Amino acid sequence: MTPVELKDKIYWVGAVDYDVRDFHGYVTPRGTSYNAYLIRDEKTALVDTVKKEFLGDLLARVRGVIDPAGLDYLVVNHVEMDHSGAVPDILEAAPRAVIVCTQKGREGLEKHYGIKDRAFRIVKTGDTLALGRRTLQFITAPMIHWPDSMFTYVVEDKVLLPNDGFGQHLASPKRFADEVGEDLCMEEAAKYYANILMPLGSVIAKKLEEIARLELDFDIIAPSHGAIWRRNTGRILRAYQDWTAFKAGPKVTIVFDTMWHSTEKMAHFLAEHLARRKIEVKVYKVRASDGSQIVRDILDSRVLLVGSPTLNADMFWTVGGFLTYLRGLKPKGKKVGIFGSYGWSEAASKMIRRDIEAMGLEILEPAFEVQYVPGEDEMKKLEAYADRVAAAVGQ
Ligand code: FEO
Repeated sequence: MTPVELKDKIYWVGAVDYDVRDFHGYVTPRGTSYNAYLIRDEKTALVDTVKKEFLGDLLARVRGVIDPAGLDYLVVNHVEMDHSGAVPDILEAAPRAVIVCTQKGREGLEKHYGIKDRAFRIVKTGDTLALGRRTLQFITAPMIHWPDSMFTYVVEDKVLLPNDGFGQHLASPKRFADEVGEDLCMEEAAKYYANILMPLGSVIAKKLEEIARLELDFDIIAPSHGAIWRRNTGRILRAYQDWTAFKAGPKVTIVFDTMWHSTEKMAHFLAEHLARRKIEVKVYKVRASDGSQIVRDILDSRVLLVGSPTLNADMFWTVGGFLTYLRGLKPKGKKVGIFGSYGWSEAASKMIRRDIEAMGLEILEPAFEVQYVPGEDEMKKLEAYADRVAAAVGQ
């Protein structure tokens, strides 16, 4: 349990959660980490804490640098419990520490932990805190990820601590993206953005513009989850610009479920036909898939195809459940094709259409529907439908 120095006297003192596989519904096959940072100067500041059950790891790493009783400031960038769970214990261990947070952060700490009889320093964008040789600059970041959120910037060292921003759910004994593998980190960052931050894309785009106006340089971007970006920080910044703009490539994500394999047969046929047109295709049977990964692939797909048989005068319930999740994530700019099979009423396509319209996405009309089992003639028509999908992709 040793601290890791990012720059002179700036340390990672967080915890790695190798075992978590479900992060409030987000499937995390690679685990995650809760990153906290310690800045030692004439005054010493701890930026964020960890999930409560990892308090021991945090304290052990802090003790590797200083006695926690000597902490002067506890900066709370975000009140969600994966970062603030250890706050009450840290405050007990650090009786002199002043809490630095936004006004909403203060309200959140009181609501979560009853913290009120404590010294607070409430900050907003532009406020600074001198630690000695170093200065902390604060940038409020409401809704990235909660109303209380803010970023902390270590001015002299050009280190950005953006909490949930630019993070990944990824556990590793290595701390830096260049050590873990940048491509893997980018992939997990995309999944994280799609599942946590996508509904807040317009807010994040404005924040990126604001940061650009502040003309801050970043030697290191150290988020609160996953690997730390210390090389090529422009890559993750550019990716966020693309994701917030819903920039998509020649890619189709096919999401379906099936009862007696008719919808499945169509899904697989569409996938093969589109792949022959040099389109990247991802195929997911909802019941057999990680919904968080499906959303990650929708993020940069130009077209989404949703397939379902009719069951009980509705779409298949797994498809309905997935669309409910997707609706909350507010995807934009996608074209959506609908396909499936039915026995005696074409209910599934109507229900899917209702949900897609509620998301404000463009529907490729008409839907492609087959009674019972697709025959030879229908598979030929499906080929023509695939050509229309390819045209919608631009291939
Ligand atoms: Fe990682 Fe919004 O908490």
